[in-house]
Amino acid sequence: MNTKIKPDWAGEGLLSKFVNFLIQTKPIYNLMKHQARQVLIKTAEKKDIPWRKNYEELEASGIKQQLSTVVNSNIVYPDYYKVPFHAYPEGNLCWQAAFEAKSATYSMALRVWPKENLTWLAAHERLRGSFHNVLATYVTQPVHDILDIGCSVGISTQTLHRYYQKNQASPICTVGLDLSPYMLTVAKSLDTNGEICKWIHAQAENTGEPSNTFDLVTLQFVIHELPRNISKEIFAEALRLLRPGGCIAIVDNNPKSPVIQNLPPILFTLMKSTEPWSDDYYSFDIETALEDVGFEKAITIASDPRHRTIISQKPLPRLNKTGV
Ligand SMILES: C[S@@+](CC[C@H](N)C(=O)[O-])C[C@H]1O[C@@H](n2cnc3c(N)ncnc32)[C@H](O)[C@@H]1O
Repeated sequence: MNTKIKPDWAGEGLLSKFVNFLIQTKPIYNLMKHQARQVLIKTAEKKDIPWRKNYEELEASGIKQQLSTVVNSNIVYPDYYKVPFHAYPEGNLCWQAAFEAKSATYSMALRVWPKENLTWLAAHERLRGSFHNVLATYVTQPVHDILDIGCSVGISTQTLHRYYQKNQASPICTVGLDLSPYMLTVAKSLDTNGEICKWIHAQAENTGEPSNTFDLVTLQFVIHELPRNISKEIFAEALRLLRPGGCIAIVDNNPKSPVIQNLPPILFTLMKSTEPWSDDYYSFDIETALEDVGFEKAITIASDPRHRTIISQKPLPRLNKTGV
């Protein structure tokens, strides 16, 4: 049985420190950054994800002119968000990241079942399906209002919306929220049927949305991209936004997964070189952090070979002795 709670390549250990030393050495970092992008694009194109074509289509579509329709000009971007990310010098705050996000999302799904020769579409459906199955089992209150935090270009938002809408006659209102106006502009353009209620440009830790308005708040593949103090603030904000009995659901890399723990050195080094908060994430006790801000005890399920889903409920009001 696997008892290690996190990979040796993350955290405070010797291997982790050595990898970090390589990453902090500028010429080596630049080379790794370049390699990381090449690995991503090649894997995608080998499996028929038209990476360059998707990019060119968005570039030619003229959607850059729509940026002002999503921008919230009151936002001051926090420092942790302005660091280089995924080999983009401006992190998520650029068109290149937004135009490549769709292809990168489908590519990520393919990495979960590398030996099964799935198409990118089948891999993506299976990835989201494994998350939705956990929701079906553990989110027992009715769900009408959904907030997808860190929605990126809206693929997680739309799949989640369709999953809940398919199972209910009354309309579901799903909202996507992200701090990158570039991602949101693409999200809005991909939402061709206007299925999503609202796309919000805001900081997840301070959304400005009213309290007690959602039944479900999701964070899909977001927390591993954040320093843990910010994740804790986001949990507190999610608690405020949820109605009593509503749930937070987090799906992200599973530090206990043997696949993640045994990643080949080249892959974990490339991953760490493009995701600056990895050390913080892989040793972060998310379940305790949720309880600390006021959620009920969390349930954690290894939802696929690389990821875990964590679900926790906002407490219902306690009845007094007279039952009121
Ligand atoms: C990996 S992407 C999420 C992918 C998407 N949820 C999916 O499953 O396809 C992470 C997203 O989180 C967003 N993000 C990071 N920090 C944020 C914050 N503090 N507030 C809002 N969005 C944030 C980023 O801009 C990025 O679009």
